[in-house]
Amino acid sequence: MPRFQAPVGTRDIMPPESARWERLVGVFRARVEAAGYGLVLSPMFEDVAVFERVGGATDVVTKEMYDFADKGGRRVALRPEGTASVVRAWVQHRPPLPFKAWYAAPSFRYERPQAGRYRQHHQLGIEALGTDDPELDVEVIALAWGVVADLGLERVGLALNSLGDAESRPRYVAAMWSFMKANRKGLCEEHRRRTDEADATGTVPANPLRVLDCKRTDCRNTTESAPRSIDFLSDAAAADFGRVTDGLGSVGIDYRIEPRLVRGLDYYTRTIFELVAEDLDAAQNGIGGGGRYDGLVEALGGPPTPGIGFGMGMERLLLACDAESKFKLGSTGVDVWVVDSTGGSEATKLVHRLRTAGVSCDRSFNGRSMKAQFRGADRSGAVMALVLGPREVAAGEVSVQLLREDSPAVVVGAADVVGHVVKILAGQVGAKR
Ligand code: HAM
Repeated sequence: MPRFQAPVGTRDIMPPESARWERLVGVFRARVEAAGYGLVLSPMFEDVAVFERVGGATDVVTKEMYDFADKGGRRVALRPEGTASVVRAWVQHRPPLPFKAWYAAPSFRYERPQAGRYRQHHQLGIEALGTDDPELDVEVIALAWGVVADLGLERVGLALNSLGDAESRPRYVAAMWSFMKANRKGLCEEHRRRTDEADATGTVPANPLRVLDCKRTDCRNTTESAPRSIDFLSDAAAADFGRVTDGLGSVGIDYRIEPRLVRGLDYYTRTIFELVAEDLDAAQNGIGGGGRYDGLVEALGGPPTPGIGFGMGMERLLLACDAESKFKLGSTGVDVWVVDSTGGSEATKLVHRLRTAGVSCDRSFNGRSMKAQFRGADRSGAVMALVLGPREVAAGEVSVQLLREDSPAVVVGAADVVGHVVKILAGQVGAKR
């Protein structure tokens, strides 16, 4: 038999780690639902054109997409991110504006796997459609920042930039294109090739800003002197950006304006931002990012409707937590372990009564020895063992043995034992394990 493994670039999230994932979703949900965002559950795959329409010139769409023809011959793609799906869903259903949505979405990118970079990753994100007010930019960034704070992370930086609006962005793109042509010799091989190819056709490459994100030394050095988007902002875009920075200041959020900041997807306009974990390596320190996409709804067939949002990688958030020793693995397991040395059917009845009363409990099977059953109790992290031996069963009693204290077992009538257990647990809240 072959030894099957999870596909390259994917991971099984096993207990007890999976409990931390659930808690992370809970932290995120609590934060964004308290701000009026509602959960959107959209399909994990879409018509490939949805993603091509929003990122046709990006690596995420051209190189990394899991796209294929289904059995009906439709070209579909596993979603590489959450924004396009939420926007497609809004255009389809047209719920009232403003529309505020959140999601926890597995996302798929055929990337070269490495620590913090997977072929299936998981994004927690929000999208807000229908408002171009920069105060909303502040709200969205503050929510991302709030999640970071809720997790206890302290060494995270907020990088901010503005790409400009419909008036100023094209001027900036044109300036970047001129810069690339004039400095082609200093670019890395790939960007030199891209520049030459576009130049030969006489067209502006789809997104010449991408070079600012190139990690190769040639491009990094050469683009030190590249034009900066914030120097090209129209008066309106500059005023909006000023309100974003003032707003962040007014709610006590530190940020750093990063004029080279660009994003890996093409739909962004005006405010963009990234959360960077200072303790992680450059390849994995982007724990979240987002920005405005005022043209995306239209690109997917809707009316002109502004939008803004962000996505955070769950894997990366947890890596950042580990690096700062925050948001640790909580205790999992059960509170009570039932030990039955009379064959097991007494345990079945008691476990059923305990579970019906909402007590978390477990037991051993297959008539294991007392010693083995107590080992199971220990491993489970249970606070107490309820022991059913021949003597207890004959007398209609149960021995209650606290496992974390050096105290003698207490014998309780079988009819009262569930109530007794509930009282013990209530009295030990917080100090249970
Ligand atoms: P993104 O920056 O491409 O933006 O992804 C968001 C986050 O997902 C990243 O900051 C990173 O933490 C995580 N991530 C991305 N790719 C991987 C990967 N291969 N492995 C592990 N983690 C990864 C977006 O996807 C936009 N949709 C965000 C957004 C929402 N913008 C506006 N609204």
